[in-house]
Amino acid sequence: MTPFSRATILASSVLFVFTCSLSACGAPPAGNVENGQKWYKMNNCNACHGEKGNDGRGPNIAAIDMSFGSFVKKLRKKDAPIMPPYPESKISEQDAADIYAFLKSGK
Ligand code: HEC
Repeated sequence: MTPFSRATILASSVLFVFTCSLSACGAPPAGNVENGQKWYKMNNCNACHGEKGNDGRGPNIAAIDMSFGSFVKKLRKKDAPIMPPYPESKISEQDAADIYAFLKSGK
């Protein structure tokens, strides 16, 4: 008999998956590319970063390689010199995931 029964291992892995789904666990929520493109335009990201993220006056953010966590932190940041902050009330976590997926997609 091993020190941990199968039931214990099963129960703790279920708990782990459950906890992770609540607290993101570093992985971005699944994003929708088409919606992301809409939110990107609705929030005027294109005014500075261009239609595709790489054709504006702002820095190139197409095919972004920062983590989703850093991306959300950047959106919420209040004291950037040019880029306005986007609080949760403007861009939810899910909308941010959609925009992130859109930028990643290279479309
Ligand atoms: C008024 C112009 C403006 C708007 C609108 C704007 N940005 Fe920015 N953005 C900037 C500038 C300038 C920087 C670089 C300086 C800084 O980090 O604030 C930047 C930086 C960033 C970065 C970090 C890039 C890097 O490599 O570090 C990301 C990601 C980003 N913007 C995404 C967005 C998204 C998504 C939106 C729309 C929700 C948006 N921006 C709207 C001007 C803008």
